[in-house]
Amino acid sequence: MSLNTSENMREAVLSAEGLVMRFGGIAATNNVTLNLKKGARHALIGPNGAGKTTLINLLTGVLQPTEGRITLLGEDITQLAPHRRVKRGMVRTFQINQLFDSLTPLQTLALTVSQQLGLGATWWQALGNNARVVDRCAELLAQFHLTEVMNQPTNVLAYGKRRLLEIAIALACEPRVLLLDEPVAGVPAGEREELLKTVAALPADVSVLLIEHDMDLVFSFAKRMTVLVNGTVLTEGDPEQIANDPRVKAVYLGHGEEGHDVGPSDGMPAPSLDERGSASPGARVVASVGAKNHG
Ligand SMILES: Nc1ncnc2c1ncn2[C@@H]1O[C@H](COP(=O)(O)OP(=O)(O)OP(=O)(O)O)[C@@H](O)[C@H]1O
Ligand SMILES: [Mg+2]
Repeated sequence: MSLNTSENMREAVLSAEGLVMRFGGIAATNNVTLNLKKGARHALIGPNGAGKTTLINLLTGVLQPTEGRITLLGEDITQLAPHRRVKRGMVRTFQINQLFDSLTPLQTLALTVSQQLGLGATWWQALGNNARVVDRCAELLAQFHLTEVMNQPTNVLAYGKRRLLEIAIALACEPRVLLLDEPVAGVPAGEREELLKTVAALPADVSVLLIEHDMDLVFSFAKRMTVLVNGTVLTEGDPEQIANDPRVKAVYLGHGEEGHDVGPSDGMPAPSLDERGSASPGARVVASVGAKNHG
């Protein structure tokens, strides 16, 4: 369990302290304390309705907490508007429908990189003229496996490529803290591997908080995990501790009927456990719990 001792907070790039979010009588977030350390590979898991998205909305400023405090790089940002948090280095992946459908990956990234370099509205001139924009775009396109589709309109891209573009855009904003909200949700099995590898290869100095129901991704990615249940932190630990925690197993078994909690994301065929050769022992433990959930 991570308490906000002064040592924890000193090491943290992003800190939530005693966060409460009430919707009428419901506390969707109930006294949540979480520290994201520099270079973190931290996963936030929990059953449906646990409050994961609410917490991300609080961290990014979409919602104002009823109580509590959020600190980014040592500064209190609790009252800061969402776009100012982005400027200070906290970026979340964009929802798919926020991509510009008629623009190509190259155009979208050129726009983002140009804004990042302070070139603003002159991006279309800058694209041809500014070597820094061109170089950075080429780098991002290669890193996110988008080079060969860079000139296709976004709306004809395979779903996995679109999700890669979302993360590329987020990274083009030069984040210190990256919040990934279910990056493989809805991605067909055949396109998942590329996404998993790309997420694994994110720059080491970017601190990442990942929300994900896909336990293959969670356990191959995370060095630290926080389990949220009913708006409350049930426990925090390394993957081995979480996978072996009877309370965590109990929570997932208890939510089996309505959840897609520890199995693959919505609409995806479930890979058999034997196919999960690359998963850690922890992944197999939790995945086997999930398999029971999903029949
Ligand atoms: N704007 C809102 N008004 C009222 N209740 C809300 C609102 N947003 C979320 N809730 C409630 O807060 C609780 C947490 O929801 P949240 O979406 O954060 O869960 P989650 O962990 O992201 O779930 P999932 O895994 O299904 O995405 C739920 O009971 C939900 O109904
Ligand atoms: Mg959610």
